[in-house]
Amino acid sequence: MTKILLKHLKSRLFETFTEHTLITGKSGSGKSNSAEYLLTQNVGKYKCIDLYDDGRGESMTYSIPESDQKLIRRMEDLSLFSLVPKSFDNDIIMLAGERADILKKELPEQVKICSIDQNDITLEDLKFLLASTESAGYAIDMLRTKLGNLTLDKIYDALMVDNPKDDDYIKGMGTVKYSILRNLSKWLDSPLFDTKKYPPVNFQKTFADKKKITSFSTYLQEDEDSKALIYGLILKKIFYSKRNKRIKSPIVTFIREISNLAGRNKISTHYQMAERFILRTLREGRDYGCYIIADTQRGRDILPIMRRNFGIHIAMRQDLQEVKDYLLELQEIDTLTLRKIPHLKRGEAIIATGVDYFYPVFFPPTQHHHKKEKENIFKLLKENGNTS
Ligand SMILES: Nc1ncnc2c1ncn2[C@@H]1O[C@H](COP(=O)(O)OP(=O)(O)OP(=O)(O)O)[C@@H](O)[C@H]1O
Ligand SMILES: [Mg+2]
Repeated sequence: MTKILLKHLKSRLFETFTEHTLITGKSGSGKSNSAEYLLTQNVGKYKCIDLYDDGRGESMTYSIPESDQKLIRRMEDLSLFSLVPKSFDNDIIMLAGERADILKKELPEQVKICSIDQNDITLEDLKFLLASTESAGYAIDMLRTKLGNLTLDKIYDALMVDNPKDDDYIKGMGTVKYSILRNLSKWLDSPLFDTKKYPPVNFQKTFADKKKITSFSTYLQEDEDSKALIYGLILKKIFYSKRNKRIKSPIVTFIREISNLAGRNKISTHYQMAERFILRTLREGRDYGCYIIADTQRGRDILPIMRRNFGIHIAMRQDLQEVKDYLLELQEIDTLTLRKIPHLKRGEAIIATGVDYFYPVFFPPTQHHHKKEKENIFKLLKENGNTS
């Protein structure tokens, strides 16, 4: 899947794996840069998706070519001039949320605000959205039996019947009905499902366009459960479109700071769906051509069951203890090399596959502009949009 530059092989472009990739390292060690580099090298061959956005806008810089001379020199040097600054076609999709109206004005024109079509929600998703208890889950199963395919609107209509004389099954629900309705009205009021105001994401069309990197963002979401829902839904859509062979080309998804979506640092239980589909993709995805590149500051922050499913481990600068707690469990590495890990420079790494390891590996700066700390991405995008 990926070409990695090995300085000790005199910068030979090195074609290796078809594997899930986990990048670990301290803040500033160059994880995101390496992941973006790997992603962009596969544009056109794979459908490339950049999934997570914590509000810093890091996933939106693909269309801006690198202009920092120092970084360009490093890129050229490492690649013997085969890499030059470059922009990539980038679809930036922000899912509609409570903040859409307030923030709309400050968004650059490259950003599309999209909703989710209720028809993209399955029975399983509905239970996730609406059923806080097991009995609420049963109630939704029953509605499905009585009403056929369900949507949020259909459930609302059924539960709100004025005279539920004929609808004994709804009466039988008792208070469960109200707990479902409470959850339901939250989602029905949410701009996320307002397809009249915002066009729904066309997942098939989006995934079929492998010339573009698609960045999904939850910048407009107010609360954690809608973010979690969105990430879960997208991961699920990606997984099933490959599993059901609706999309031909392989899909590679970069999940930034994966421990926010799955693992021990997870903020809330809302992320169950995201976690489930990350795990399924890690376990089964390779059979369907569905890959994950993920980065995290500490390897042990993600569940062992997950990290064992990554075939490629890229360790950037980190404390020796981290390596002992995480990397050595996967791969024996000689002590001299290990001791180098806390001193690796930006972009330098050890790559371990469980069978072999490579040291030192040098990742070049990305060809596009990789976001610097404190940079205002919207401003940059606006300037870039106006000049091209
Ligand atoms: N390969 C590289 N060569 C030169 N400079 C690099 C390289 N990779 C990253 N840098 C520089 O280091 C900075 C931090 O890199 P990056 O954002 O990739 O780190 P990170 O490990 O993802 O950090 P965080 O955990 O805070 O997200 C970048 O803005 C860039 O200027
Ligand atoms: Mg980063």
